[in-house]
Amino acid sequence: MFAPVLNESIIKRAQAKNLVKIRLHDLRDYSNSKHRKVDERPFGGGPGMVFGPQPVFRAVESLLVRRTTKIILLTPQGRKLDHKMAKKLSRCKHLILICGHYEGVDERVRQKLVTQELSIGDYVLTCGELPAMVLVDSMVRLIPGVLGKDESTHFESFSQGLLEYPQYTRPAVYRGMRVPKILLSGNHKLIEKWRKKKALEITRRKRPDLLCGKEKDG
Ligand SMILES: C[S@@+](CC[C@H](N)C(=O)[O-])C[C@H]1O[C@@H](n2cnc3c(N)ncnc32)[C@H](O)[C@@H]1O
Repeated sequence: MFAPVLNESIIKRAQAKNLVKIRLHDLRDYSNSKHRKVDERPFGGGPGMVFGPQPVFRAVESLLVRRTTKIILLTPQGRKLDHKMAKKLSRCKHLILICGHYEGVDERVRQKLVTQELSIGDYVLTCGELPAMVLVDSMVRLIPGVLGKDESTHFESFSQGLLEYPQYTRPAVYRGMRVPKILLSGNHKLIEKWRKKKALEITRRKRPDLLCGKEKDG
């Protein structure tokens, strides 16, 4: 699943520039069982299978390179990923991401191995690969040097606690809809002021929760 995402576009370039290294590990390679088994039926009954602790502990322990390594379990029970968290994690030297499958992972992995549980939203996906890729994408684009000048994250949604201002491109009139005059004026100071005002308006309308305390602080 990972190849089409990790070997394309911005993430591919970031790896080529050595700004990030991403390694994939197959849990089966760490299984002590003859048939490389990684999952078992849950104790107490119930549907599905659970990743057993043995391959997960062995995999993570053999990949730990430093004391500060964060071991992240992707799980719907985790704290919800947001820009702040992505930024914080993008500064870490080494992260290990554990992707669950089936019914998830043995609770002892959570209790003794994992340092952080992360969710990408209040819904359940079939596996942890997609959430891991969402996390990787959100972090990698925040690593200095990854995005070019044209792709800067400075003014985009959440980077300053606001949603982004409206964007327009050619043509200046489409089906009778006009681009705001100010954007065609060439007056960068006024454009910046307009964009700030619009960002605030849009945030107030769509995500007032982001503004808590912000408007009072100016
Ligand atoms: C079918 S889910 C297991 C759900 C689990 N039985 C529960 O109710 O919490 C399989 C795996 O997908 C991943 N996953 C599913 N939804 C997720 C989400 N919203 N955020 C992060 N990971 C998720 C986790 O790694 C999970 O172990």
